Amino acid sequence: MSNVVFVLNGPNLNLLGFREPTIYGNDTLDDIAGMLEDRARDLGLEIDMRQSNHEGHLVDWLHEAHFAQAKAVLLNAAAYTHTSVAILDAIKSIKVPVIEVHISDPVMREPFRHISYVEMGAVATVKGMGARGYVVALEKAAAL
Ligand code: DQA
Repeated sequence: MSNVVFVLNGPNLNLLGFREPTIYGNDTLDDIAGMLEDRARDLGLEIDMRQSNHEGHLVDWLHEAHFAQAKAVLLNAAAYTHTSVAILDAIKSIKVPVIEVHISDPVMREPFRHISYVEMGAVATVKGMGARGYVVALEKAAAL
């Protein structure tokens, strides 16, 4: 197993900092990457952070995490969380543990956000903690 943690981000998360700040806050994805890099250094881990607006990229990257023998995947699949059986199947197809991350708490929002396909395959979920939730998820990954 390597010390690399993949951090995979789904659609519209490239617009963090600008996108609905009352829900998602003011931190950009680059700010989150910086926080993760700082914490990862202390934990002896490496971060491989990616974002895509395309479902298949997330599936491909989950497979890549498997072949790279990553320590864990932190996955914020964004809206695909609530729709994607393909992402759930990918999570179930690999040995690498996946930790689900959400900036907001989808269960406190519209009913269509209450189902999470990612949760059905993930070893843990961190939600509703804002951008800091990514760091909390990294600490959980370090403890696996
Ligand atoms: C999100 C929550 C999802 O419901 C939403 O579609 C997102 C972001 C979050 O981080 O809070 O795009 O995953």
